[in-house]
This record gives sequence, structure tokens and C-alpha cells, in this order.
Amino acid sequence: MMSEAGIDRVVEELRRLNGELHELSRKMNNVVREGRVTEVFEDGTATVEAQGFETKRLPWVTRAGNVKDWDPPTAGERVVLLSPSGDPGRALILPGGFSEEFPQNHSNASEARRTVGSTVITATGDSYVVETEKLTLKAKEILVEADEITIKGNVAIEGESLTHNSKNIGDDHEHKDVTPGAANTGPPA
Ligand SMILES: [Fe+2]
Repeated sequence: MMSEAGIDRVVEELRRLNGELHELSRKMNNVVREGRVTEVFEDGTATVEAQGFETKRLPWVTRAGNVKDWDPPTAGERVVLLSPSGDPGRALILPGGFSEEFPQNHSNASEARRTVGSTVITATGDSYVVETEKLTLKAKEILVEADEITIKGNVAIEGESLTHNSKNIGDDHEHKDVTPGAANTGPPA
């Protein structure tokens, strides 16, 4: 027969285990949660509203090594909170998919698209298209290799020289065989 004190100890232990189970189940519930961003901050953090409570400022998951990105979420955007410890106060923000307010960005399953405001970059199996208001390329050297190059629109070239197959065709080029009169000039010298 177990003594009364022994039974009390077992009951006490069961109570403790029961409390621990509740706590574990509460944490399990918080490991992965869907939510919506409420505010985004310049230091790479955001607050998220997830099923009734608002988190403190949390970082979103991003690359930040030799390869790094800046890919901030937007207020109202769907996200997933990942809290390995079950504590949403120490969660990470992951992308959460599209919603009515922020619909899907494309519908072709073999293509990729990235959109920022009116700038749209679409990669297909055989093309890469950038649509934007103003496109700037900055580099010490730019090499374009193509069989055909077509420019539609006005062209202004600013620079020291302009050559074609090493011949000067720039604003200071001269011509061979020039005699004033009706004849055509010779080619650029
Ligand atoms: Fe000329």
C-alpha cells in the first residue's frame, strides 16, 4: 500500500507534468504561425499581427553574407512566423504567399517575375525582359555581344570618340577625296 504522503507526491508530480504538457502544447502552437506585417522598419525588422497578438520588432529572413539581399516585406503582406523555441518574441519572418490584397505576380509556371512598383523583370526560357521608367547601367566597361542590335528611339552619344571598325566616325571625323562641287565625298579618312 502506498502511504498518503506517497500518493500526494504522485498527484503533485502528475499536476506538474500536466502543466508542462500545457506549456509544451502552447509552444508547439507558436512554432509556425501565419500572420500579416503591420509595420516595416529601416533596420531590417518588422512587426507582425498573428492570430490576435502583435509581435515586437522581428527580423525577416534574408541573405547577408558575401551574397546579400535587401528584400523587405510590406505592411499588410502575408508572412509566416517561425519560432524554433515556440516563443513568438524570438521569431523569424518568412514570406507567406499571396493574398487578395497582394495577388500572385504571374501565372506561368515556367517563368520567373520580380516586380517592384512599376518595374517588372521577367525571365522566360529564352528571354530576360526588364520593364521600367529609367534603366541605368554603371560599369567601367560594358560589352554587348549580339548578332543584331536595334535601337528604337532618339540616340545621344556623349564621349571622346566614336569609331566603326577602328575608323573615326565621330564629331571631328574628316573625309578623303574632297573637292568642292557636286560630287560625293570619299569615305571617312
Ligand atoms: Fe561624314
